[in-house]
Amino acid sequence: MEQGNKRPDNMKRITTAALANAFIDEQVKALREQIGDKKVLLALSGGVDSSVVAALLIKAVGNQLTCVHVNHGLLRKGEPEQVIEVFRNQLGANLVYVDAVDRFLDALAGVSEPEQKRKIIGKIFIDVFAEEARKLDGISFLGQGTIYPDILESHGVKAHHNVGGLPEDMRDFELVEPVKLLYKDEVRVVGKALGLPDSMVYRQPFPGPGLGVRCVGAITRDRLEALREADAIVREEIGKLPVTPWQYFCAIPDIVSTGIKYENGKGVRYMGWAVVIRAVNTVDAVTATVPEIPFSVLCTMRDRIVKIPGVNRVLWDISEKPVATIEWE
Ligand code: XMP
Repeated sequence: MEQGNKRPDNMKRITTAALANAFIDEQVKALREQIGDKKVLLALSGGVDSSVVAALLIKAVGNQLTCVHVNHGLLRKGEPEQVIEVFRNQLGANLVYVDAVDRFLDALAGVSEPEQKRKIIGKIFIDVFAEEARKLDGISFLGQGTIYPDILESHGVKAHHNVGGLPEDMRDFELVEPVKLLYKDEVRVVGKALGLPDSMVYRQPFPGPGLGVRCVGAITRDRLEALREADAIVREEIGKLPVTPWQYFCAIPDIVSTGIKYENGKGVRYMGWAVVIRAVNTVDAVTATVPEIPFSVLCTMRDRIVKIPGVNRVLWDISEKPVATIEWE
Protein backbone atom coordinates (compact mmCIF):
# COMPACT_ATOMS: atom_id res chain seq x y z
CA MET A 1 0.00 0.00 0.00
CA GLU A 2 1.27 3.49 -0.87
CA GLN A 3 2.66 5.41 2.11
CA GLY A 4 0.07 8.23 2.06
CA ASN A 5 -2.74 5.69 1.71
CA LYS A 6 -2.07 4.02 5.05
CA ARG A 7 -4.04 5.24 8.04
CA PRO A 8 -1.53 5.93 10.85
CA ASP A 9 -1.92 3.44 13.70
CA ASN A 10 -2.25 6.28 16.21
CA MET A 11 -4.97 8.16 14.27
CA LYS A 12 -7.94 8.66 16.60
CA ARG A 13 -11.38 7.69 15.35
CA ILE A 14 -13.33 10.90 14.65
CA THR A 15 -16.44 10.57 16.80
CA THR A 16 -17.01 14.07 18.18
CA ALA A 17 -17.44 17.60 16.85
CA ALA A 18 -14.16 18.60 18.53
CA LEU A 19 -12.22 15.86 16.75
CA ALA A 20 -13.99 16.72 13.50
CA ASN A 21 -13.12 20.41 13.86
CA ALA A 22 -9.49 19.54 14.49
CA PHE A 23 -9.51 17.37 11.35
CA ILE A 24 -11.17 20.18 9.35
CA ASP A 25 -8.62 22.78 10.49
CA GLU A 26 -5.79 20.44 9.64
CA GLN A 27 -7.25 19.60 6.23
CA VAL A 28 -8.07 23.20 5.31
CA LYS A 29 -4.46 24.11 6.05
CA ALA A 30 -3.14 21.11 4.11
CA LEU A 31 -5.47 21.81 1.17
CA ARG A 32 -4.39 25.45 1.00
CA GLU A 33 -0.76 24.39 1.05
CA GLN A 34 -1.30 21.75 -1.61
CA ILE A 35 -3.49 23.86 -3.90
CA GLY A 36 -2.06 27.36 -3.48
CA ASP A 37 -3.77 29.69 -5.96
CA LYS A 38 -4.44 26.91 -8.47
CA LYS A 39 -7.77 25.47 -9.54
CA VAL A 40 -9.45 22.19 -8.53
CA LEU A 41 -11.95 20.09 -10.39
CA LEU A 42 -14.14 17.89 -8.18
CA ALA A 43 -16.20 14.85 -9.01
CA LEU A 44 -19.42 15.68 -7.21
CA SER A 45 -21.75 12.69 -7.13
CA GLY A 46 -23.99 14.16 -4.45
CA GLY A 47 -23.19 11.41 -1.96
CA VAL A 48 -21.88 12.19 1.49
CA ASP A 49 -18.21 11.61 0.57
CA SER A 50 -17.98 13.98 -2.36
CA SER A 51 -20.31 16.48 -0.66
CA VAL A 52 -18.00 16.63 2.34
CA VAL A 53 -14.99 16.99 0.05
CA ALA A 54 -16.79 19.81 -1.78
CA ALA A 55 -17.54 21.57 1.50
CA LEU A 56 -13.94 21.17 2.69
CA LEU A 57 -12.63 22.52 -0.60
CA ILE A 58 -15.08 25.43 -0.60
CA LYS A 59 -13.87 26.27 2.91
CA ALA A 60 -10.24 25.95 1.90
CA VAL A 61 -10.10 27.47 -1.57
CA GLY A 62 -13.59 28.89 -2.32
CA ASN A 63 -14.21 29.56 -5.98
CA GLN A 64 -10.92 28.01 -7.09
CA LEU A 65 -13.09 24.87 -7.00
CA THR A 66 -15.21 23.74 -9.93
CA CYS A 67 -17.59 20.85 -9.20
CA VAL A 68 -18.53 18.51 -12.01
CA HIS A 69 -21.59 16.34 -11.73
CA VAL A 70 -21.55 13.52 -14.27
CA ASN A 71 -24.86 11.86 -14.94
CA HIS A 72 -23.75 8.37 -15.98
CA GLY A 73 -27.29 7.08 -16.21
CA LEU A 74 -26.73 4.92 -13.13
CA LEU A 75 -27.90 7.49 -10.59
CA ARG A 76 -30.99 7.18 -8.43
CA LYS A 77 -34.29 8.71 -9.43
CA GLY A 78 -34.27 12.51 -9.03
CA GLU A 79 -30.63 12.62 -8.02
CA PRO A 80 -29.08 14.75 -10.79
CA GLU A 81 -31.84 17.33 -10.27
CA GLN A 82 -31.18 17.37 -6.52
CA VAL A 83 -27.43 17.84 -6.93
CA ILE A 84 -28.05 20.86 -9.15
CA GLU A 85 -30.57 22.28 -6.70
CA VAL A 86 -28.44 21.86 -3.57
CA PHE A 87 -24.99 22.72 -4.89
CA ARG A 88 -25.65 25.23 -7.64
CA ASN A 89 -28.78 26.92 -6.33
CA GLN A 90 -28.39 26.66 -2.55
CA LEU A 91 -24.63 26.50 -1.92
CA GLY A 92 -23.69 28.67 -4.88
CA ALA A 93 -20.99 26.27 -6.02
CA ASN A 94 -19.39 26.49 -9.42
CA LEU A 95 -21.15 23.42 -10.89
CA VAL A 96 -20.87 21.88 -14.34
CA TYR A 97 -23.53 19.28 -15.17
CA VAL A 98 -22.56 16.67 -17.77
CA ASP A 99 -25.15 14.40 -19.35
CA ALA A 100 -23.08 11.33 -20.31
CA VAL A 101 -25.88 8.75 -20.04
CA ASP A 102 -25.64 7.36 -23.58
CA ARG A 103 -21.89 7.21 -23.49
CA PHE A 104 -21.85 5.07 -20.35
CA LEU A 105 -24.75 2.82 -21.23
CA ASP A 106 -23.49 2.21 -24.78
CA ALA A 107 -20.07 1.20 -23.42
CA LEU A 108 -21.67 -1.11 -20.85
CA ALA A 109 -24.00 -2.87 -23.27
CA GLY A 110 -23.43 -6.62 -23.19
CA VAL A 111 -20.82 -6.46 -20.38
CA SER A 112 -21.76 -8.81 -17.54
CA GLU A 113 -18.58 -9.24 -15.49
CA PRO A 114 -18.84 -6.98 -12.39
CA GLU A 115 -15.23 -5.85 -12.25
CA GLN A 116 -15.24 -5.19 -15.98
CA LYS A 117 -18.34 -3.03 -15.51
CA ARG A 118 -16.62 -1.10 -12.72
CA LYS A 119 -13.54 -0.60 -14.86
CA ILE A 120 -15.56 0.69 -17.81
CA ILE A 121 -17.49 3.08 -15.58
CA GLY A 122 -14.26 4.22 -13.91
CA LYS A 123 -12.49 4.75 -17.22
CA ILE A 124 -15.27 6.75 -18.82
CA PHE A 125 -15.59 8.76 -15.64
CA ILE A 126 -11.94 9.75 -15.87
CA ASP A 127 -12.31 10.46 -19.60
CA VAL A 128 -15.26 12.75 -18.95
CA PHE A 129 -13.32 14.59 -16.29
CA ALA A 130 -10.36 14.98 -18.59
CA GLU A 131 -12.63 16.47 -21.22
CA GLU A 132 -14.28 18.84 -18.75
CA ALA A 133 -10.89 19.86 -17.38
CA ARG A 134 -9.64 20.69 -20.86
CA LYS A 135 -12.65 22.93 -21.39
CA LEU A 136 -11.79 24.85 -18.23
CA ASP A 137 -8.72 27.00 -18.02
CA GLY A 138 -5.80 26.15 -15.76
CA ILE A 139 -7.08 23.21 -13.69
CA SER A 140 -4.23 21.59 -11.77
CA PHE A 141 -5.98 19.32 -9.27
CA LEU A 142 -8.64 16.65 -9.31
CA GLY A 143 -10.66 16.26 -6.10
CA GLN A 144 -12.07 12.84 -5.15
CA GLY A 145 -14.31 11.48 -2.42
CA THR A 146 -12.22 8.38 -1.82
CA ILE A 147 -12.66 6.98 1.71
CA TYR A 148 -10.59 4.40 3.61
CA PRO A 149 -12.72 1.29 2.91
CA ASP A 150 -12.32 2.08 -0.81
CA ILE A 151 -8.56 1.90 -0.40
CA LEU A 152 -8.62 -1.22 1.78
CA GLU A 153 -11.03 -3.12 -0.41
CA SER A 154 -9.43 -2.14 -3.69
CA HIS A 155 -6.64 -4.50 -2.61
CA GLY A 156 -8.26 -7.76 -3.51
CA VAL A 157 -12.02 -7.59 -3.15
CA LYS A 158 -13.50 -5.06 -5.53
CA ALA A 159 -11.92 -2.57 -7.92
CA HIS A 160 -13.49 0.59 -6.57
CA HIS A 161 -13.37 3.00 -9.42
CA ASN A 162 -12.38 6.00 -7.34
CA VAL A 163 -9.05 4.54 -6.34
CA GLY A 164 -6.09 4.36 -8.65
CA GLY A 165 -3.95 6.65 -10.67
CA LEU A 166 -4.93 8.86 -13.50
CA PRO A 167 -4.20 7.89 -17.11
CA GLU A 168 -0.98 9.12 -18.66
CA ASP A 169 -2.54 11.99 -20.53
CA MET A 170 -3.79 13.36 -17.20
CA ARG A 171 -0.45 13.42 -15.45
CA ASP A 172 -0.82 17.18 -15.14
CA PHE A 173 -3.47 16.67 -12.49
CA GLU A 174 -2.64 15.91 -8.93
CA LEU A 175 -5.22 14.12 -6.76
CA VAL A 176 -6.85 15.88 -3.82
CA GLU A 177 -8.42 13.28 -1.53
CA PRO A 178 -8.93 14.90 1.89
CA VAL A 179 -11.10 12.13 3.38
CA LYS A 180 -9.20 9.13 2.04
CA LEU A 181 -8.09 7.97 5.49
CA LEU A 182 -11.55 8.24 7.04
CA TYR A 183 -14.20 5.61 7.61
CA LYS A 184 -17.74 6.39 6.57
CA ASP A 185 -18.96 7.19 10.09
CA GLU A 186 -16.13 9.71 10.45
CA VAL A 187 -16.99 11.40 7.16
CA ARG A 188 -20.50 12.01 8.48
CA VAL A 189 -19.21 13.54 11.73
CA VAL A 190 -16.98 15.83 9.66
CA GLY A 191 -19.88 16.75 7.34
CA LYS A 192 -22.05 17.67 10.30
CA ALA A 193 -19.25 19.82 11.75
CA LEU A 194 -18.91 21.52 8.37
CA GLY A 195 -22.56 22.55 8.65
CA LEU A 196 -23.91 20.47 5.77
CA PRO A 197 -27.65 19.77 5.96
CA ASP A 198 -28.69 16.53 7.68
CA SER A 199 -30.34 15.29 4.51
CA MET A 200 -26.89 15.25 2.94
CA VAL A 201 -24.82 14.13 5.92
CA TYR A 202 -27.04 11.17 6.76
CA ARG A 203 -27.76 10.27 3.18
CA GLN A 204 -27.14 6.60 2.64
CA PRO A 205 -23.95 5.70 0.85
CA PHE A 206 -24.21 5.01 -2.84
CA PRO A 207 -21.45 3.27 -4.78
CA GLY A 208 -19.55 5.17 -7.45
CA PRO A 209 -20.75 2.77 -10.17
CA GLY A 210 -24.23 3.41 -8.81
CA LEU A 211 -27.13 1.31 -10.02
CA GLY A 212 -24.62 -0.34 -12.36
CA VAL A 213 -23.61 -2.84 -9.64
CA ARG A 214 -27.25 -3.43 -8.72
CA CYS A 215 -28.46 -4.09 -12.24
CA VAL A 216 -26.79 -7.47 -12.03
CA GLY A 217 -25.06 -8.83 -15.15
CA ALA A 218 -25.26 -7.06 -18.49
CA ILE A 219 -27.19 -3.80 -18.03
CA THR A 220 -30.16 -3.18 -20.27
CA ARG A 221 -31.96 0.15 -20.29
CA ASP A 222 -35.36 -1.37 -19.53
CA ARG A 223 -34.13 -3.40 -16.55
CA LEU A 224 -32.16 -0.39 -15.31
CA GLU A 225 -35.30 1.77 -15.44
CA ALA A 226 -37.26 -0.88 -13.52
CA LEU A 227 -34.47 -0.91 -10.91
CA ARG A 228 -34.49 2.91 -10.64
CA GLU A 229 -38.25 2.92 -10.04
CA ALA A 230 -38.06 0.08 -7.49
CA ASP A 231 -35.19 1.82 -5.71
CA ALA A 232 -37.22 5.02 -5.38
CA ILE A 233 -40.11 3.04 -3.86
CA VAL A 234 -37.83 1.26 -1.37
CA ARG A 235 -36.12 4.50 -0.35
CA GLU A 236 -39.48 6.15 0.16
CA GLU A 237 -41.14 3.33 2.13
CA ILE A 238 -38.19 2.24 4.30
CA GLY A 239 -37.30 5.91 4.71
CA LYS A 240 -40.60 6.38 6.61
CA LEU A 241 -39.47 4.05 9.42
CA PRO A 242 -38.62 5.82 12.70
CA VAL A 243 -35.10 4.36 12.54
CA THR A 244 -33.76 3.77 9.06
CA PRO A 245 -31.14 1.17 8.20
CA TRP A 246 -27.64 2.28 7.18
CA GLN A 247 -28.23 1.35 3.55
CA TYR A 248 -31.40 0.19 1.81
CA PHE A 249 -31.87 -0.36 -1.87
CA CYS A 250 -32.77 -2.87 -4.57
CA ALA A 251 -30.89 -5.14 -6.89
CA ILE A 252 -32.33 -6.67 -10.01
CA PRO A 253 -30.72 -9.94 -11.10
CA ASP A 254 -30.48 -10.84 -14.75
CA ILE A 255 -33.07 -13.58 -14.50
CA VAL A 256 -36.72 -13.92 -15.36
CA SER A 257 -39.30 -16.14 -13.76
CA THR A 258 -42.86 -17.06 -14.57
CA GLY A 259 -45.65 -14.70 -13.73
CA ILE A 260 -49.30 -14.42 -14.58
CA LYS A 261 -51.28 -11.42 -15.72
CA TYR A 262 -54.96 -11.20 -16.49
CA GLU A 263 -56.12 -9.96 -19.85
CA ASN A 264 -59.86 -9.80 -20.42
CA GLY A 265 -60.35 -12.06 -17.39
CA LYS A 266 -58.01 -14.68 -18.78
CA GLY A 267 -54.72 -15.55 -17.08
CA VAL A 268 -51.71 -15.18 -19.37
CA ARG A 269 -48.31 -16.63 -18.48
CA TYR A 270 -45.35 -14.27 -18.92
CA MET A 271 -41.73 -13.99 -17.84
CA GLY A 272 -40.71 -11.07 -15.61
CA TRP A 273 -37.85 -9.81 -13.46
CA ALA A 274 -37.46 -10.29 -9.72
CA VAL A 275 -36.59 -7.22 -7.65
CA VAL A 276 -34.51 -7.91 -4.55
CA ILE A 277 -34.91 -5.59 -1.56
CA ARG A 278 -31.74 -5.23 0.50
CA ALA A 279 -31.29 -3.37 3.80
CA VAL A 280 -28.22 -3.52 6.02
CA ASN A 281 -26.82 -2.03 9.18
CA THR A 282 -23.11 -1.51 9.62
CA VAL A 283 -20.61 0.89 11.13
CA ASP A 284 -17.86 0.78 8.55
CA ALA A 285 -19.22 -1.46 5.73
CA VAL A 286 -16.66 -4.14 6.53
CA THR A 287 -19.30 -6.34 8.16
CA ALA A 288 -23.08 -5.88 8.01
CA THR A 289 -26.23 -7.22 9.64
CA VAL A 290 -29.79 -7.26 8.38
CA PRO A 291 -32.37 -5.22 10.31
CA GLU A 292 -35.96 -6.26 10.87
CA ILE A 293 -38.35 -4.57 8.47
CA PRO A 294 -42.03 -4.79 9.46
CA PHE A 295 -43.84 -7.29 7.24
CA SER A 296 -46.50 -4.66 6.44
CA VAL A 297 -43.77 -2.41 5.01
CA LEU A 298 -42.41 -5.26 2.90
CA CYS A 299 -45.94 -5.87 1.59
CA THR A 300 -46.46 -2.18 0.78
CA MET A 301 -43.21 -2.18 -1.20
CA ARG A 302 -44.15 -5.44 -2.93
CA ASP A 303 -47.53 -4.09 -3.99
CA ARG A 304 -45.93 -0.98 -5.50
CA ILE A 305 -42.93 -2.73 -7.06
CA VAL A 306 -44.96 -5.39 -8.93
CA LYS A 307 -46.71 -2.54 -10.76
CA ILE A 308 -43.42 -1.59 -12.46
CA PRO A 309 -43.45 -2.80 -16.07
CA GLY A 310 -41.49 -6.04 -16.47
CA VAL A 311 -41.40 -6.93 -12.75
CA ASN A 312 -43.42 -9.86 -11.39
CA ARG A 313 -41.62 -10.92 -8.22
CA VAL A 314 -40.19 -9.26 -5.09
CA LEU A 315 -37.59 -10.89 -2.81
CA TRP A 316 -36.17 -9.85 0.58
CA ASP A 317 -32.43 -10.44 0.95
CA ILE A 318 -31.59 -11.51 4.51
CA SER A 319 -27.90 -12.27 3.87
CA GLU A 320 -25.32 -10.79 6.20
CA LYS A 321 -21.77 -9.63 5.38
CA PRO A 322 -19.87 -11.89 5.48
CA VAL A 323 -20.72 -14.19 3.66
CA ALA A 324 -22.53 -11.90 1.21
CA THR A 325 -21.16 -8.49 0.34
CA ILE A 326 -23.55 -5.55 0.72
CA GLU A 327 -23.87 -4.97 -3.01
CA TRP A 328 -24.88 -7.78 -5.31
CA GLU A 329 -21.80 -7.24 -7.47
P1 XMP B 1 -19.66 -4.30 -0.42
O1 XMP B 1 -20.58 -4.68 -1.53
O2 XMP B 1 -18.22 -4.40 -0.81
O3 XMP B 1 -19.94 -2.79 -0.13
O4 XMP B 1 -19.96 -5.04 0.85
C1 XMP B 1 -19.38 -2.06 0.95
C2 XMP B 1 -19.78 -0.63 0.78
O5 XMP B 1 -19.11 -0.10 -0.36
C3 XMP B 1 -20.03 0.34 -1.34
N1 XMP B 1 -19.51 -0.06 -2.63
C4 XMP B 1 -18.88 0.77 -3.47
N2 XMP B 1 -18.59 2.07 -3.38
N3 XMP B 1 -17.56 1.99 -5.50
C5 XMP B 1 -17.93 2.68 -4.40
O6 XMP B 1 -17.67 3.88 -4.35
C6 XMP B 1 -17.81 0.67 -5.68
O7 XMP B 1 -17.47 0.07 -6.69
C7 XMP B 1 -18.51 0.04 -4.59
N4 XMP B 1 -18.91 -1.25 -4.38
C8 XMP B 1 -19.52 -1.27 -3.18
C9 XMP B 1 -21.34 -0.35 -0.99
O8 XMP B 1 -22.47 0.38 -1.45
C10 XMP B 1 -21.26 -0.43 0.50
O9 XMP B 1 -21.67 0.77 1.10
